[in-house]
Amino acid sequence: MHDPKVFRSMHKERFGAEPKIFVGPGRVNLIGEHTDYAEGFVMPAAINFSTLAGISPRTDGKIAIYSENQGEERVFDDGVQAKRSQHWTDYPMGVTAILAGEGHKIPGFNLSIWSDVPLSSGLSSSAALEVATALAVLDLAGASYPGPKLARLCQRAENEFVGANCGIMDQFISINAQKDHALLLDCRDLSFKLAPIPEHVALVIANTMVKHSVAGGDYPTRRRESEAACAVIASHRAGVPFLRDATLEDLEKWGSEMEPKSYLRAKHVISEDLRTVAACEALLKGNMKELGRLMAEAHRSYSQDFDGSCAEADAMVALAQDLPGLIGARLTGGGFGGCTINLVEQTEAAKFAEALGKRYAEKTGIAPQIHVCHASGGAHRLE
Ligand code: GLA
Repeated sequence: MHDPKVFRSMHKERFGAEPKIFVGPGRVNLIGEHTDYAEGFVMPAAINFSTLAGISPRTDGKIAIYSENQGEERVFDDGVQAKRSQHWTDYPMGVTAILAGEGHKIPGFNLSIWSDVPLSSGLSSSAALEVATALAVLDLAGASYPGPKLARLCQRAENEFVGANCGIMDQFISINAQKDHALLLDCRDLSFKLAPIPEHVALVIANTMVKHSVAGGDYPTRRRESEAACAVIASHRAGVPFLRDATLEDLEKWGSEMEPKSYLRAKHVISEDLRTVAACEALLKGNMKELGRLMAEAHRSYSQDFDGSCAEADAMVALAQDLPGLIGARLTGGGFGGCTINLVEQTEAAKFAEALGKRYAEKTGIAPQIHVCHASGGAHRLE
């Protein structure tokens, strides 16, 4: 992580005021992909890559936002903006606008941002930024929210202000994560169950270096395709507003009325919900073999039925299969690139990471980034 002392003095030098600093972690999803917006189940964990947001008040009503990663500062002379400007500041400004819309009086402020969550890698750099900003701005406004409600507000910032049609998973885990745990989230009522990640298991995150984006065309297309299948089922059986409510039997019964693509997308989503709940059971029972099997099946389904993978991610998963220590591997996050998550025996993790990196580079000609991570706690203030 960035040295908070350096970050603090950077903010002080730039803005002439002492900041309060807040942290929002990125996340990795162990299983449960494209199920959150269908009100189903996901099982993510926060990771030890995060975004820092430093905030100090201003008296002139202006909002200044500086990103050390972008090397850019933007000043909004008239404070909170009503609309996006297709700029990276849309994320922090979106959160600020949503909070203002909730009735909070938000004075002018200086916000500085720094992050080590790799961008466009499926590790939720956007949610980390939204969540760190939300804590910072709320502190300034003298307000706070329970975690699940705050996650919804940050999701709204992304849906309504930024214009990316994401679900609730990323914001939820960034806020509500617990160290050394994965969290099984019911995306319908936001109830959750914590599942400890055993000490002998490492989270090895392998970045294919193929850029992923939720705002891009493929994510919303897949979402539409799966929702079209749901509409067919709903036309026959009441009480299926989301694929969460559908069964594999429904799919077999009315699948012939769906576009073949929609049928396959729904097959992934419905079966992924079942796998995700089963994976949490396996993790809680310490049944690593079953967890690995479910992850393998989830990757197959994500790649072949949902068509959410890419050649590089498929290669990264395939190349991991016979490496010593592997428990399970699959593509994580929104898809079409980004990272794979590998659950690996801790004692083998370093060697595993090295061997996987070498194999991937040989196979694809791309130098990957491979990180041995651990499950971190949720967003908080840095003292
Ligand atoms: C992105 C979105 C999430 C979720 C995943 C896919 O990370 O932000 O809401 O839909 O993709 O599981």
